[in-house]
Amino acid sequence: MPDDYIGLISGTSMDGIDAVLATITDDTFELRETHVHAYPEELRVALQSLIARPEACDLDELGSLDRWIGECFRDAALALVEKSDVSAADIVAIGSHGQTLRHQPAALRPFSLQVGDPATIAAGTGIATVADFRRADIAAGGQGAPLVPPFHEWLFRRPGRHRVVLNLGGIANVTVLPGNDAPVTGFDTGPGNTLLDAWIGARRSLRYDEDGQWAAAGTVVDDLLHGLIGDEYFKASPPKSTGFERFNLQWLSAFSADKHDPRDVQATLSELTAISVAAAIDQYAPATSETYVCGGGVHNRDLMQRLRRRLSKGTVESTLAVGLDPDWVEAAAFAWLAMRTLGKKTGNLPSVTGASHKVVLGAIHYP
Ligand SMILES: Nc1ncnc2c1ncn2[C@@H]1O[C@H](COP(=O)(O)OP(=O)(O)O)[C@@H](O)[C@H]1O
Ligand SMILES: [Mg+2]
Repeated sequence: MPDDYIGLISGTSMDGIDAVLATITDDTFELRETHVHAYPEELRVALQSLIARPEACDLDELGSLDRWIGECFRDAALALVEKSDVSAADIVAIGSHGQTLRHQPAALRPFSLQVGDPATIAAGTGIATVADFRRADIAAGGQGAPLVPPFHEWLFRRPGRHRVVLNLGGIANVTVLPGNDAPVTGFDTGPGNTLLDAWIGARRSLRYDEDGQWAAAGTVVDDLLHGLIGDEYFKASPPKSTGFERFNLQWLSAFSADKHDPRDVQATLSELTAISVAAAIDQYAPATSETYVCGGGVHNRDLMQRLRRRLSKGTVESTLAVGLDPDWVEAAAFAWLAMRTLGKKTGNLPSVTGASHKVVLGAIHYP
C-alpha cells in the first residue's frame, strides 16, 4: 500500500533545508515534490558563528536556536505541501533530521546533537514528526552516523553489481553495496565540500566555488596535500564519522596553508577530497565497478573530474543514472527512515555504525 512521507534535512553546509515529498511502497520510491528552503541570513550567520567558537555555548541561545530552526523546518514542510498535489492530512509522517550542531561520536560520553524542535514542526503542519534519529544508534554503542546507507541499500543494491554510493555533502560519506552477500558497509571518508566552502569563503567571501572554477585554475601543492592527507582520520578504520569539529579552517591553518597562492590551496583541497574518497574505496571496496554520486559536490565539475581520474577502474556517475536526483537523496532517506519508524522497523545498519544491534530510530511527535 503506497503512503506519502516527507523528509527534511539541513546538512553541515547549512546551504538550506532540503525538503522532499515521496510516495513509498514496499519496494518503490517516487519523488512527488521537492523544495529548498533557505535559512534567514541572520540565522545562518548565527549558526556559523556558533560552530566556529565551540567554547562559547550559551544555553539561552541554544534553546532559542532549537525553536527558530524548528520554525524554519516547519515552514519548509508547509511550502513543500503547498507546491504539491497532496494534502497534509494524507501524509503519514515527516522525518526530520534537523540541523547538527555538534557530533562527538568519540567523546567519553558519545553524542550527536541535532536541533530543530520537532514538536514545533508537528504542531505547525498537523503531521506526525519523527526526529532525533541518531540517539538510539548511539545508545546501542554506534556512531549514530551515517544513517543513509540502509536507504541506499534498499534502493540501489543489485546482485552481481559492486556499487558504491558517494554522498558529497559538507562531509563525504560512502556506502559500499556488495554484489554478493557480504554486509553493507559505509562511513565518512572525511571532508567533502566543507573545506572548499570555508576557504573560498575566507578568501573571496563566496558561499562556494561555482563549478569548481577557482580550484580548476589552481595547481595542487604536493607538500600541502601530503601534510593534509597525513591526518589520523584518513588512516583510522571504520566505523568512523566526522564533522566540521575536525575539518575546518583552524585545522587547515596548522599546515600553513596561508603561505601558498589561495587558488592553489583551493585546488589542493579539491584533490584532498578526491584522493581521500578514492583511497577509502580502494581499501574498503576494491571490487567497486560503479560509483554513484549524490549531494551538492556532484555539481562541482573540478571535483568530479579529479574523482574520475582517481577512480579510473570503474564508472563514476550521478545517482540520476540509477533513478534518483542527486540533490534529494539525503532528504529522501529521512522520509524513508520515518516510514521505518512508524512501522516499528529498525533503521540503522550495525555493520555501518558499529552499534551492537539493529534498533528502531527516532522519536515520534504527534501534532
Ligand atoms: N554548482 C556548484 N558548484 C560547486 N559546488 C556546489 C555547486 N552546487 C552545490 N555545491 C556544493 O554543495 C554544497 C551543498 O551540498 P549538500 O549536499 O547540500 O551538503 P550538506 O548535506 O552538507 O548540506 C555547497 O555548500 C557547495 O559546496
Ligand atoms: Mg545541504
